[in-house]
Amino acid sequence: MSIKLRLILSNIAMITVPIILFMITSFLLMIVFLGDIREMANFLPESHNYHKTKQEDTLFFLELKEKSAVNPVELLSKEYLESLKSELSSIDSGLMIRKNDEIFYRTEDLEKVRAEELPVFGTERSFRSLEKIGEQTFAMKQHDFYLQDGSEVSLFLMRDASPWNQFVRTFFPILFGLCLLILIATNGLLAYFVSKSIIKPINQLKKASYFIKAGDLEHSITAVRNDEIGQLTQAFEEMRLQLKQSHEIQKQYEDNRKELIAHISHDLKTPITSIKGYIEGIRDGVADTPEKRTRYIQTIYTKAVDMDHLIDELFLFSKLDLGKIPFEFERIDIKDYLTDYFEELSFDLRKQNVGLHFQFAPQGHYYVSADREKFKRVLANIINNSLKYMDKDKKELIITMHSTDKNVEISITDNGPGIPEESIPFIFNQFYRAEQSRNKLTGGSGLGLSIAKMIIEEHNGEIKLESTLNVGTNITICLPNDTCAGETIL
Ligand SMILES: Nc1ncnc2c1ncn2[C@@H]1O[C@H](COP(=O)(O)OP(=O)(O)OP(=O)(O)O)[C@@H](O)[C@H]1O
Ligand SMILES: [Mg+2]
Repeated sequence: MSIKLRLILSNIAMITVPIILFMITSFLLMIVFLGDIREMANFLPESHNYHKTKQEDTLFFLELKEKSAVNPVELLSKEYLESLKSELSSIDSGLMIRKNDEIFYRTEDLEKVRAEELPVFGTERSFRSLEKIGEQTFAMKQHDFYLQDGSEVSLFLMRDASPWNQFVRTFFPILFGLCLLILIATNGLLAYFVSKSIIKPINQLKKASYFIKAGDLEHSITAVRNDEIGQLTQAFEEMRLQLKQSHEIQKQYEDNRKELIAHISHDLKTPITSIKGYIEGIRDGVADTPEKRTRYIQTIYTKAVDMDHLIDELFLFSKLDLGKIPFEFERIDIKDYLTDYFEELSFDLRKQNVGLHFQFAPQGHYYVSADREKFKRVLANIINNSLKYMDKDKKELIITMHSTDKNVEISITDNGPGIPEESIPFIFNQFYRAEQSRNKLTGGSGLGLSIAKMIIEEHNGEIKLESTLNVGTNITICLPNDTCAGETIL
């Protein structure tokens, strides 16, 4: 239930409960002061039309009043008064007539009532509340009139109201107090439940926000209800998750940056230390023969070339990382492109005794959108690795290609030493080199494959590596297929 609806309902309850209680109290009050609920009819505006609205006893009383005006002598005649008895008993009332302070007539049920206890002549009112007369309580109506001889006659229509009156008088304070108590309790309970359902989740949110303020992003909160606060809690939780994720990314970036600086310093420090050593050797005369000096100088040159290569790679890597290298994409037939590329390379490959095998249909065309130069860099990094790490006498390179509606897959497989399984997940990380390569004298910064990955990702493609130790390594590049409908796909 939404908070809005809850507030509306509680407001309705806060209005209706007091109204109901007020009505109950009024009802009780009426019984106390009027003796009978039916007396209410006297207050109604339609009371002038008494035949319709008035009770029997009121009508009877009005009849007596009328009689007192029209024919008071008959009214006081014994026969007439006796004839009223049945009607009186049907309205459960008794009649008393007082003439000049003396009781003139009374019905049997009013035997105990004494004349001096009755209201005095001239105190007639249109309605009268309960009247305590002697031990009893009566709901009574009084009518005063004069006879022709000047006698003062009072007519009392009386109904015993003792049991009712006793009940209400005894219980009225209790009932009234109970009504008040119910009113306070209803208001209190409504206020408690409505505020609890709002305050509890707000406190939960407050606590969660303190955790976030203190930098603890692990503290999760769950929305219990689906109301406005529930939605706020949900949004808060999503915000926390997003914040946590961006924190993790930030931390990863920070760790990467630190690692990068450590690697760069290490990879630059190593050749510089050996260059320094060789130069000291020449300066201090350790290289005392021309051959030794030439060897020293050659080593210094090789180290400088390595450094130059590393700085180039670093430069390219950081530019790719910052997204500062423009890509010039064009639609190329990747089969023709690869054939040309390997043709350029064939001389070097033959020299290194590498067997090159193409496995794709000669008549097929595979179109992709690529940056020629950057893609060449990817191929170079992959092929250079194969050539650098290949340890078999008979070296093999297999290039395969196949396409689906969505992608073109180019796969380069060598029969080199392979990569240990535990190194594969990190192979595309910057500066990562499998332990066996670090130990060998192959050189390299560990940036080649991470550069290749960045370039392929810029092409909206994917690069994967599979490798089996002592069998070989296979790298698959997956690029979006740019072959137009109607062109041959094989
Ligand atoms: N074809 C392969 N055969 C065996 N190991 C490989 C092969 N390709 C990559 N590796 C392993 O993966 C590591 C990472 O390769 P990557 O090309 O990123 O760096 P590198 O060759 O060491 O240095 P760089 O390419 O920057 O000169 C290498 O150090 C090597 O251990
Ligand atoms: Mg490499």
